[in-house]
Amino acid sequence: MTTQTLIATVQALLAADRGLLAMDESNPTCNKRFAELGIPQTVEMRQAYRELIVTAPGLSGSISGAILYDETIRQTKKDGTPFARALREAGIVPGIKLDAGAKELAGHPGEKVTEGLDGLRERLKEYGAMGARFAKWRAVITIGGNIPSEACIEANAHALARYAALCQEAGIVPVVEPEVLMDGDHTLARCAEVTEQTQFAVFRELQRQGVLLEGMLLKPNMVVSGLDCPEQATVAQVAEATVRCLLRTVPAAVPGVAFLSGGQSPQSASAHLSAMNAGFKARMPWVLTFSFARAIQQPAMEVWRGQPANVAAAQKALVQRARCNNAARRGEYSAAMEKP
Ligand code: 13P
Repeated sequence: MTTQTLIATVQALLAADRGLLAMDESNPTCNKRFAELGIPQTVEMRQAYRELIVTAPGLSGSISGAILYDETIRQTKKDGTPFARALREAGIVPGIKLDAGAKELAGHPGEKVTEGLDGLRERLKEYGAMGARFAKWRAVITIGGNIPSEACIEANAHALARYAALCQEAGIVPVVEPEVLMDGDHTLARCAEVTEQTQFAVFRELQRQGVLLEGMLLKPNMVVSGLDCPEQATVAQVAEATVRCLLRTVPAAVPGVAFLSGGQSPQSASAHLSAMNAGFKARMPWVLTFSFARAIQQPAMEVWRGQPANVAAAQKALVQRARCNNAARRGEYSAAMEKP
């Protein structure tokens, strides 16, 4: 029964060339994005912004699921409708961020491990009752001089697998997110090496913990050059390196891979996803889609800037970016689509 529920949710999330919208920024992260645009960092503004997203006309044409944060899943629209219900009524599956953030890993300077396993079974029950059908847990891997260490990769892979097993026990689809960060001056080849090592460890742990591969999604980084690397890879190089890494590490039983954007520009994220789908579809056993936060939201937030008069224009910008990624899932995105 649980297996059928998990598989049905995964299929709903992958249907009709749609993808996921990550709108699960923690309060500190959301406030940071607001501060950069001069938007007041209050609970009221966070509610107004999330209402703008949830009520954007036509969003469900390109978005199948939206990941909420603890504060957001407890909030309602101005008319009292809970956000989770509003999403469901719009044809979008509500999800929830379950991790409690990445904290310093003891004894490993510069490295992090994600916390949040304590009490997770009870929290899953609560979020399930509030309507969440899938969940996310983000692990962070940093590339540096002599990091990541094996200890960091293993600790994060273990936590991801324990989280995924608890989700499936509760009938909630785990989105497993091991993010190798773009920060640094490392090359594309170094990112490929670390991403491969990380994903390999993650799947080994998922299998050890008995996670049903058919009832989960992987949310990885794309394989890209470090932000400060003097030599930036081309779109074709990113697509090829990313697909190669996935082919080596992700079992064919996994139904879908939904990328994070990780600080790429919205246009780059769409171009990379599109190049993978246009060039490699025949070789890939899984669906390649998106689970972007910044690469979908950023233009909309810049239009909104906290002003009620800008809500409709911001919603248009949001839906426009979602449509670009919908096209990228089909391998049909082009820069010409940037003009609404
Ligand atoms: P970005 O697409 O902004 O990287 O965010 C995705 C996400 O959910 C991070 O956990």
